[in-house]
Amino acid sequence: MNELQPVLDGESLITPAAVEADIAALHPSHDGDQLAIATAELGLVLHTARQGFESGRDPVQTMRWTVEALHKTRRKVNPRVWRALIPLAQEHPVAEYFHRDPFTRWSFRKPRGYSGDARLLDFIYQHESVQGDVADALPVGQSLYAYSKYYPSCVAVRERRDLLTRQVDEIADERGQGTEVLTIAAGHLREADNSVALKDGRISRWVALDQDPMSVGSVARDFSGSRVEAIDGSVRGLLTDAYKLGTFDFVYSAGLYDYLTDAVAIRLTKRCMKMLKPGGTLLFANFSPELTDDGYMETFMDWTLLLRSEADMWSIVNASVDRNTVDASVFFGENRNIVYAVIRKRD
Ligand SMILES: C[S@@+](CC[C@H](N)C(=O)[O-])C[C@H]1O[C@@H](n2cnc3c(N)ncnc32)[C@H](O)[C@@H]1O
Repeated sequence: MNELQPVLDGESLITPAAVEADIAALHPSHDGDQLAIATAELGLVLHTARQGFESGRDPVQTMRWTVEALHKTRRKVNPRVWRALIPLAQEHPVAEYFHRDPFTRWSFRKPRGYSGDARLLDFIYQHESVQGDVADALPVGQSLYAYSKYYPSCVAVRERRDLLTRQVDEIADERGQGTEVLTIAAGHLREADNSVALKDGRISRWVALDQDPMSVGSVARDFSGSRVEAIDGSVRGLLTDAYKLGTFDFVYSAGLYDYLTDAVAIRLTKRCMKMLKPGGTLLFANFSPELTDDGYMETFMDWTLLLRSEADMWSIVNASVDRNTVDASVFFGENRNIVYAVIRKRD
């Protein structure tokens, strides 16, 4: 680890070792035959993908085919068998081709020491700050990125950013001058770039909290002179009320619950409800099990997420609030790759 990397707070940041332990506890044994068959099937997928790249065929065709094949394998086998397959894919020579895609490479190498950092999200947002990396990639890498940035999961993340901008603006319309917003795990706060309410001064305070000092520095720089306050803080600090942030009209988090176990997600949701003013709104988002690039993400990107269904989101809501005091809803984004929970505290 280099000195710029954040200290992981133990309340989130799913690591491969943590997933391994959870899966081992849930599925104490697996059928050795299934592992042998799955290993052979995966070997064939990887071999075919390698041949595809080496044949000089359009690399995008190979990537599309591999993403689908890995998704099918992941769905078919016991989760513990799947975890055993992941290193086989990662160590296979074909990985080198996929890592020519700058987006896949950044995810796999984790230069900030953990999965799903804000710069990775900038590859999804096609933000100008990553254009240098894209320009420096080999032509095959550029072609792969031109495809990978349109994975359904990436389309859903861009929709999520825009949905958040709209939510902030609508809440500021409703609540008026002096609206206060808290973003937990803000990353680079890209959703604020297009917020009309921020530009026209209806937001009096927009706290952007993240555990990665580099992301906090980026927000402080990009939004200096605005009502955005970048705070270096963690879920753990929020749970113990270490920052004394007060209350807000809107509290939300995107790209965080995917790393939180149910127990921590419920504790955080309860804490967030305490930080809402009467009539305030909490929103949290999570990737759904309808993701189709899950197998590719977990292997060649080494990016593991906790996927949640509508029912899983309702379980968190129901365990966190008294339903007589709130209005709650759970809904999918357009391509159902991301699911949202919204809880409004009654006045
Ligand atoms: C996938 S990014 C999402 C960034 C942003 N919300 C977005 O949607 O573009 C996840 C962010 O969560 C932050 N994060 C992860 N665990 C955290 C924790 N325990 N406390 C605070 N921030 C955390 C990371 O530093 C990273 O910036």
